[in-house]
Amino acid sequence: MNALHQYISSAMSSSVLYKCTHQRSFIFLNIKNQTAVSKLFSTSRCHQKIIPKNLKGMKKSSQMWLKRQLNDPYVEKAKMEHLRCRSAFKLLEIEDKHKLFKPGDIVIDCGAAPGSWSQVAVERVNATRTDLNSPQGVVISIDLDYIAPLVGANILDKSDFTHENTQNEVLHILDGRKADIVLSDMAPKASGVKFMDHDLIIGLCFSVLKFSVGVLKEGGIVLCKLWQGSDQTKLEGVMENMFNKTRVIKPPASRSQSAEVFLLGQGFRGIKQPN
Ligand SMILES: C[S@@+](CC[C@H](N)C(=O)[O-])C[C@H]1O[C@@H](n2cnc3c(N)ncnc32)[C@H](O)[C@@H]1O
Repeated sequence: MNALHQYISSAMSSSVLYKCTHQRSFIFLNIKNQTAVSKLFSTSRCHQKIIPKNLKGMKKSSQMWLKRQLNDPYVEKAKMEHLRCRSAFKLLEIEDKHKLFKPGDIVIDCGAAPGSWSQVAVERVNATRTDLNSPQGVVISIDLDYIAPLVGANILDKSDFTHENTQNEVLHILDGRKADIVLSDMAPKASGVKFMDHDLIIGLCFSVLKFSVGVLKEGGIVLCKLWQGSDQTKLEGVMENMFNKTRVIKPPASRSQSAEVFLLGQGFRGIKQPN
């Protein structure tokens, strides 16, 4: 854990949470500094800004990141709802609007660490059979990084999705079944050079589409993240050929300053057999 993470953890653990009568609103009091850091927590309102102290020695970019994290209602909300990170809300907002999951679905989650999208998928597809009257789904979670165990998910961590071995492991878990949904929140390590980072993420998106052609059910769904740039239209064009409907989505939880958008393809047309 680096200094920045320790700072945030201690800032958050020194806060006491009081639940208000209003279901979605909370008041946080920071008792460590005895400063009245009182906030009304909803994802749309933030009444008083938290101004972090002791930032000396931190890089400007780290200071900005810390300020943003401490004042981000989605970060707080993720903590309260035991979600592994704020990204969960991007998927939940897309799910609310476009209805991706149903119980019994098979989901492949690429770039799954730390695991918040997989948490959402496990719950929505009934992967732990919490609802005995609905079919049980399957979630396969893949990442280069470590993913902490998650009940209901088949974890392939420390694995590069673009490698043949990893894709074979996914096929092994599928055991001849086809997937309903392929998700990709994969993000390469950003260099800061926009066009290069765009190229890298586009490469990941194409590897997701290529893999999906072989594993998706007819009618299936792909949701993949990209950073906008010159090849977006090319990617959209490929998706328009593969799916009945393709959309570009910027969910409210995705920061407006970020170049991130999501491409959603619904209604996989399947592979046309040559005559
Ligand atoms: C934004 S995070 C994903 C957050 C995740 N959706 C969640 O909700 O917890 C992006 C992840 O993509 C992973 N990633 C990037 N390239 C990858 C690759 N080639 N194969 C597998 N994972 C990759 C990174 O390791 C990183 O954990």
